[in-house]
Amino acid sequence: MEIIKAEDYLDMSRKAANIISAQIIMKPDCVLGLATGSTPIGIYDQLVEWYEKGDLDFSKVTTINLDEYRGLSRDNDQSYYYFMKEKLFQRVNIEKDRIYLPKGMEKDSKKACEDYDTIIENAGGIDLQLLGLGHNGHIGFNEPSDKFEMKTHCVDLTESTILANQRFFDSIEEVPKQAYTMGIDTIMNAKRIVIVVSGKEKAEILKEAFFGPVTPKIQASILQLHRNVTIVADEAALSEIKQ
Ligand code: F6R
Repeated sequence: MEIIKAEDYLDMSRKAANIISAQIIMKPDCVLGLATGSTPIGIYDQLVEWYEKGDLDFSKVTTINLDEYRGLSRDNDQSYYYFMKEKLFQRVNIEKDRIYLPKGMEKDSKKACEDYDTIIENAGGIDLQLLGLGHNGHIGFNEPSDKFEMKTHCVDLTESTILANQRFFDSIEEVPKQAYTMGIDTIMNAKRIVIVVSGKEKAEILKEAFFGPVTPKIQASILQLHRNVTIVADEAALSEIKQ
């Protein structure tokens, strides 16, 4: 486990973007596992900047995202597809047919999950998986549990997540109650993992996840067993770690 200490959010974004950029340069047809959420936004901005300067070429890159809400279409502005389109896909020269997220509109959840695992398998697995860290230690939508769920699966969102999401929708009925997420086995099979963490409010969970016992109660703790994981975190997020 390697820890890269960044000064602040901007520095963290630049350092993580550097690793992703190197991956694309070394292997132009690489498979990137990508995340949504607020933490990677600065990384995507940095990658776009380098693309615009002509330093990066996404034309052969395949992207496979961690998760998607069940029941949201791609043009719903709350879907993760929409987020990725806004933040990255429409700003670089990535081929549309090499972009993958779980199919939120697939009602048959077994099919949605199996299809996604097949896509990942056919792509030859993930070269570099980018992760954010949830406040409860989740990665993707793998929430605290008694076990690690291995493959892509359908998750029931917690009441608190549904209520928190309510502000983005006209009514509570429209708020997604479930999501499809990549499983732990798939994440752990990525050749390289980069997890980005920013802010004081993540300091405690970062310490628990990477310096505490490996437990499904803190799903990110499993990353301690990965052979090539890099934590890129700012000083605030690392403030609970003794140097
Ligand atoms: C996003 C995802 C989540 C987030 C995590 C951290 O696709 O799967 O696990 O990475 O919730 O979110 P932020 O970055 O918003 O703190």
